[in-house]
Amino acid sequence: MDEEKPTIFVRTNTASRPTVMVVLNILLSFLSSNATSTSNNAYHNATVGQSPNTVYGLYYCRGDVARDVCRDCVNSAVNDIVKSCPNGEVGVIWYDECTLRYSNESIFSIVSDSSALIMLNPNNISDPTRFNQLLDNTMNEVATEAASYSDRFATQEAIVTEFQNLYCLAQCSPYLSRNGCYRCLLGAIGNLPICCNGSQGGRVFSPSCVVRFEMYLFHRVTTSVPATSSTLLVSGRNTIISAESLQFDFSVVLEATYNLADVNKIGEGGFGSVYKGMLPNGQEIAVKRLSRNSSQGVEEFKNEVVLVAKLQHCNFVRLLGFCLEGEEKILIYEFVSNKSLDYFLFDDEKHVQLDWQRRYKIIQGIARGFLYLHEDSCLRIIHRDLKASNILLDEEMNPKISDFGIARIFGMDQTQEKTNRIVGTYGYMSREYALHGFFSVKSDVFSFSVLILEIVSGKKNSIFHQTDSVDLGLKSNAWRHWNAGTTLELIDPILLENCSISAVMRCIHIGLLCVQKVDERPTMANMVLMLNGYPATLPLPTQPASFVRSSTGSRMLLEGKVSQETGSSQCKSMSITEVQPR
Ligand SMILES: *[C@@H]1O[C@H](CO)[C@@H](O)[C@H](O)[C@H]1NC(C)=O
Ligand SMILES: *[C@@H]1O[C@H](CO)[C@@H](O)[C@H](O)[C@H]1NC(C)=O
Ligand SMILES: *[C@@H]1O[C@H](CO)[C@@H](O)[C@H](O)[C@H]1NC(C)=O
Ligand SMILES: *[C@@H]1O[C@H](CO)[C@@H](O)[C@H](O)[C@H]1NC(C)=O
Ligand SMILES: *[C@@H]1O[C@H](CO)[C@@H](O)[C@H](O)[C@H]1NC(C)=O
Ligand SMILES: *[C@@H]1O[C@H](CO)[C@@H](O)[C@H](O)[C@H]1NC(C)=O
Ligand SMILES: *[C@@H]1O[C@H](CO)[C@@H](O)[C@H](O)[C@H]1NC(C)=O
Ligand SMILES: *[C@@H]1O[C@H](CO)[C@@H](O)[C@H](O)[C@H]1NC(C)=O
Repeated sequence: MDEEKPTIFVRTNTASRPTVMVVLNILLSFLSSNATSTSNNAYHNATVGQSPNTVYGLYYCRGDVARDVCRDCVNSAVNDIVKSCPNGEVGVIWYDECTLRYSNESIFSIVSDSSALIMLNPNNISDPTRFNQLLDNTMNEVATEAASYSDRFATQEAIVTEFQNLYCLAQCSPYLSRNGCYRCLLGAIGNLPICCNGSQGGRVFSPSCVVRFEMYLFHRVTTSVPATSSTLLVSGRNTIISAESLQFDFSVVLEATYNLADVNKIGEGGFGSVYKGMLPNGQEIAVKRLSRNSSQGVEEFKNEVVLVAKLQHCNFVRLLGFCLEGEEKILIYEFVSNKSLDYFLFDDEKHVQLDWQRRYKIIQGIARGFLYLHEDSCLRIIHRDLKASNILLDEEMNPKISDFGIARIFGMDQTQEKTNRIVGTYGYMSREYALHGFFSVKSDVFSFSVLILEIVSGKKNSIFHQTDSVDLGLKSNAWRHWNAGTTLELIDPILLENCSISAVMRCIHIGLLCVQKVDERPTMANMVLMLNGYPATLPLPTQPASFVRSSTGSRMLLEGKVSQETGSSQCKSMSITEVQPR
């Protein structure tokens, strides 16, 4: 499909010494042979020679290209760079599929914007103003994502019209830090309004990173194969993930966690225990050992794991793999260091650490994660158990949604009768879900808005203080303050020390819009727009749908039929006894 010729651009300084040329040739042969013979050939660096004749070199292939494409690209690069700059001390050559560089100075972790190559698609778009906004948003998202992945590569799609999509790609040198990568990409993206305003496509190549957008699919996407066997393959960020590649040896898990020692236990829940561990390469992991009751079969379990592993977004806790050994079913996640949101938010002392800036960042991160879950991933997944304790915080206090899609993994499908047990956490559940097991993306929107109100107020939404006459739940409380014009009283006083009151009020406003009746509730895409300030004037909220009360405790199990599809029209209603609306 993409028939264009490779891109070649070379910048060179010609002040050569023969020894440098010898060293450069050795360097290039190392790069070439690593691209050809090593199994993990996506990128490589090498340093050759003694000062003052040291030469530093690296290549990186685009994250979606196959091994052999990478190899061929690097070999062409090695040949072409020698021809193009026979006496160079500094060189860079770009192709669509790979970048190769060398220098007489160390270049590995340094962001270089010393030169850039820009290519633009000659076709014009019809509605530049709207398109530019979309392009800017999508490019920023893909940059954030790429910076957060270890291969520093991400792609992102957005819908332009019913018939047209926008495809964006970002790739950094994997030797850059997360921040370095992000900085480089922002610099490259900054060229787009200048170079490529009104174009249907554009590419910016800089020595340390590359961005590209087009209105056609120009990168590789592999299609998913039906989930039937253990050789299941699905695409994830356009690389193939197989069950085998995700499987960990039990001995590795044991070694990583000192034999699942109690001292390593960091959490315990209905579904099992969580341990902290460390892999031989130094990566910290969280190991979730599922309780043995799960009725789910091995194949089903593997398929679920592969599907969840495919969901990759910087606001999700990443699933690294699984382990099966006898009765043991184990899930392995990246370790997230700063505990969970509830640990800070609802603690009398620790909530001070969450200033408005941090809280707002958390709200926005959760929204982006959910937008991906609902609309941007190939699967549409409804979380069903969004709450403060499922939002983990990384070392920079970025939110990471955990336990998504896992409801199904934990053996909740009683396969034969297709009867499901739905687990949710009371107080975050929307009325239609609690009453009818009727869930849709709008149920997650509801839970999210409850969470927003909690984040702004610093108070837990408690439904257990309801009396027959007054609903003291947080959202009813918010609604009352809203109507009485006393919304400020709702805000966690610590925030008032330094925040934008209008931004806080806007969050409460959005929160109230999202606890409305299901038809009136915005989608997650609307919420992301609203949180980013569009439209400037929000519609007035109507009275929230009311909660139901429960006498059984904070976690409630509802039984009923739920279709595997998540479209609301396919959800069957179910009867529940003992649970009445107020
Ligand atoms: C890969 O490159 C390194 C230098 O960075 C070199 O020592 C090694 O021999 C190369 N490996 C292969 C398989 O060519
Ligand atoms: C690298 O080469 C440039 C000129 O091409 C020179 O100015 C610079 O000092 C050199 N750096 C080192 C470390 O030799
Ligand atoms: C260069 O690659 C080696 C592995 O081949 C790695 O250990 C090293 O950290 C890399 N250098 C940089 C600056 O990332
Ligand atoms: C795109 O627009 C530019 C100026 O607005 C014009 O010169 C060019 O011919 C247009 N290209 C196409 C393919 O229509
Ligand atoms: C891009 O083009 C549109 C109309 O074609 C114009 O309104 C806008 O100012 C341009 N943006 C930049 C950054 O030049
Ligand atoms: C697993 O089974 C045990 C004993 O049968 C029971 O106490 C426990 O609650 C069950 N756990 C789950 C998650 O169903
Ligand atoms: C988050 O974690 C990092 C590193 O683990 C630590 O330095 C930082 O203080 C933590 N932040 C808070 C608010 O606890
Ligand atoms: C107040 O918040 C702004 C950003 O929202 C931040 O830059 C500034 O440092 C904060 N001031 C104090 C005193 O915390």
